[in-house]
Amino acid sequence: MKLIEKIVYFKPSFTLRIIAGLIAFALIMAACLLAGVIDASSNGLAKRDEAWAARGIEQGAKVYYTYCAGCHGADGRGIDGKGPAVSSQTFLGKVDENGVQVTASERMKDLKWQGSVQQYIEAVTASGIPPSGAFDEIHAQWSNRYGGPLRDDEIKNVATFIMNWAKAPITDGTIINAPKPGAGAAPKATAVPLTAAQEAGKQVYLKAGCTACHSIKGLAGGGAIGPNLTNVATNAEAHLKDPTYKGAAKTATEYIHESVVDPAKYVVPQCPSGPCLAGVMPATFGTSLKPDEITQLVDYLMTLK
Ligand code: HEC
Ligand code: HEC
Repeated sequence: MKLIEKIVYFKPSFTLRIIAGLIAFALIMAACLLAGVIDASSNGLAKRDEAWAARGIEQGAKVYYTYCAGCHGADGRGIDGKGPAVSSQTFLGKVDENGVQVTASERMKDLKWQGSVQQYIEAVTASGIPPSGAFDEIHAQWSNRYGGPLRDDEIKNVATFIMNWAKAPITDGTIINAPKPGAGAAPKATAVPLTAAQEAGKQVYLKAGCTACHSIKGLAGGGAIGPNLTNVATNAEAHLKDPTYKGAAKTATEYIHESVVDPAKYVVPQCPSGPCLAGVMPATFGTSLKPDEITQLVDYLMTLK
């Protein structure tokens, strides 16, 4: 009882209170220091930085697959006629694991861009890029400052997401590169006027819904699910020589006819965003289109060399 009373009615002297205060202060400082040392030795700050960047990449991926992949490709290698590569080494250069640039971006050199690649991506995404004429599509002004749908933080995140490809940029031959400054459009094939039958075939192509999945350079609004048909007549020759080709066609015309009426006979290896899948192209055109419509359609596709 005595002890409790003593504690309850204890009135420390002024000096004692100062000393107690100083000790408490010193203890708190020591605790902070210890926490800091533990954090530093376990790399806590760097880990939180990394987690923050990972979050940016994740948010950026959402923006990319919602707004950009349709023209630049799911893996950023570009889509013929739609948009150039943004995951190529030519465009990004290469960075090592620690984010240090080990190979410079050729594209930035060509453009004489003074800032970083990330800054370039942010600038182009926000305010657009003048059309070079090499693509049928236009890269819009995406920033909400220009009436686009994206906020500044979303633009930063999508640029961070694209930059993440620089650790393993694509270098193979399937990249759709942006043309060099001043080079403009790749020379277009001489536009030979279509014959009446070929023109009729083009109309069949447009009304049968082929554009939902296929693109042809010069025809607006194609899809990127099936192979680009801009050079289908030339590609047909190559597919015929493919050892895995087991169809019945002997000529390019027969090959294209077969591709339309019996698409499962041969599955083209490469589609715009990865390997082509069997069963995606409807197998019903042989019955839904009249025989002369199919002939016209094939005539038209044979002009695409
Ligand atoms: C409708 C198609 C389309 C969409 C959607 C699109 N772009 Fe583009 N983008 C283009 C085209 C076309 C170009 C090249 C313009 C030219 O050279 O004519 C381009 C250029 C670029 C470039 C510059 C590439 C270089 O080599 O200079 C970047 C970076 C880019 N786009 C990022 C994006 C991002 C990020 C998004 C999504 C927010 C996006 N694009 C959405 C079509 C598109
Ligand atoms: C739902 C999507 C879809 C539609 C609609 C579609 N295709 Fe396809 N097409 C594909 C896919 C995917 C492939 C590649 C797989 C294969 O070869 O079967 C392909 C392959 C082709 C090929 C072979 C291309 C090559 O490079 O060898 C031709 C030709 C073709 N389609 C023409 C047409 C025509 C003409 C129409 C309209 C009458 C059409 N397609 C409608 C998805 C589609």
